[in-house]
Amino acid sequence: MSASLATVSYIGATILFILSLGGLSNQETSRRGNLYGMIGMALAVAATVFGPQVTMAGIPWIVGAMLVGGAIGLYAARTVQMTQMPELVALMHSMVGLAAMLVGFATFIDPEASKGFVGAAKAIHEMEIYIGILIGAVTFSGSIIAFGKLSGRIGGNPMLLPGRHWMNLAGLLVVIWFGREFLAAHSIAEAQLPLIVMTVIALLFGIHMVMAIGGADMPVVVSMLNSYSGWAAAATGFMLSNDLLIVTGALVGSSGAILSYIMCNAMNRSFISVIAGGFGTTSAAPKPAGGAAQPAGEVVPVNATETAELLREAKSVIIVPGYGMAVAQAQHTVFEITKHLREKGVNVRFGIHPVAGRMPGHMNVLLAEARVPYDIVFEMDELNEDFPKTDVAMVIGANDIVNPGAQDDPTSPIAGMPVLEVWKAKTSIVMKRSMASGYAGVDNPLFYKDNNRMLFGDAKKMLDEVLTALKA
Ligand code: TAP
Repeated sequence: MSASLATVSYIGATILFILSLGGLSNQETSRRGNLYGMIGMALAVAATVFGPQVTMAGIPWIVGAMLVGGAIGLYAARTVQMTQMPELVALMHSMVGLAAMLVGFATFIDPEASKGFVGAAKAIHEMEIYIGILIGAVTFSGSIIAFGKLSGRIGGNPMLLPGRHWMNLAGLLVVIWFGREFLAAHSIAEAQLPLIVMTVIALLFGIHMVMAIGGADMPVVVSMLNSYSGWAAAATGFMLSNDLLIVTGALVGSSGAILSYIMCNAMNRSFISVIAGGFGTTSAAPKPAGGAAQPAGEVVPVNATETAELLREAKSVIIVPGYGMAVAQAQHTVFEITKHLREKGVNVRFGIHPVAGRMPGHMNVLLAEARVPYDIVFEMDELNEDFPKTDVAMVIGANDIVNPGAQDDPTSPIAGMPVLEVWKAKTSIVMKRSMASGYAGVDNPLFYKDNNRMLFGDAKKMLDEVLTALKA
């Protein structure tokens, strides 16, 4: 493939990636967005493999590596549970970080790669290597720890070392100092030590940064590492003089940063305080240590028949799905119930919290899979005002995202997080298996409200019973 054809293909791939990101921002266009992304990536890979930067002798190696990598990716994509997706994503980010590190070291030791660079160009080339390895190492070790925390292999409690901010600052200063040494070095042998010291510090920093972040902030961390992996890819693009990799990396880097910002807003956390760490645990037990007042009172359990009765009598229903719906795989029964109620003239809508479930868009994906029409699925802000006019708010396996303590209790660990105000409906029904707390480990005063009913049991099983009772 000629260089000009490769450049045209790269421009085509870039446009497709931008269209893909645009498409993914809306549920109705997301399939198309995915398709654009897939075509763009196929074009990018083909233009790179058959482009001027790869010799014929290298092609069998690349094809072999692609077959092995593709087979592993295909297997992982087919076997991973939807609820394990964030772990898989974290693992993939670690691969991007590792690749950036390895490309950095390969470029550093390959005399061919730095041939022809003199003066300012040489300094810029060396800076690309240094910064590329730095971002790659932080992304690699941080993502491995994020994977460990999300999969439960490492505890969710934040590890808060004394003077940790000072340690980070000292690490940063050492990295800057060795960066200067690296640029001033006259040979590979001389530059080796500063590069290795920086890599070790960057790896330790990645571990320390993510270990200090509590379970409840992990979604933001995964999205932040997504952003880092984009910048690591862009740095690799600079090292390899590959324009497409620079553009793609920048797209991933900036979209990850925007997503982190949106998630921080949804959890009412400042980005800096997330990075500073220390909030949230994965403990299922309520956390009096957080200082939050413990809600008290009676809970009113109902059974499936009573739930069906409440739904049958309602004119308007808002369904709020959460993580439990995903675990129970109850979305198809939710759709059947929705269909049945709508046929009876009930106005059924869905309220989706931005961090419901365990990944951005988790609930939207499940509802789309169950063929719930898009036009009855609303964002939290779009229908929070409608709860007082709603007869039944049905909460399916959600907890933190409907916790009134976030508004009423300034001492609650989730104080200030915007929530769906289900308790303002005439009746709210919470479907879950027990009184256990959710992801943030905080007890939920909603359960004790006078107008709240608890339907205890696995969401799929209970909804099947509700559907049977509705049809009876
Ligand atoms: P959670 O607060 O985690 O509550 C889910 C509830 O589902 C649990 O209390 C659990 O109670 C119940 N449950 C579990 N399995 C169930 C089953 N088979 N049937 C019925 N209920 C079941 O979930 P949420 O309300 O969706 O809030 C999301 C939380 O996760 C937030 O704190 C958010 O910050 C965090 N988070 C979000 C993301 C993203 S990006 N969405 C990523 C990671 C973390 P029982 O055990 O009593 O059944």
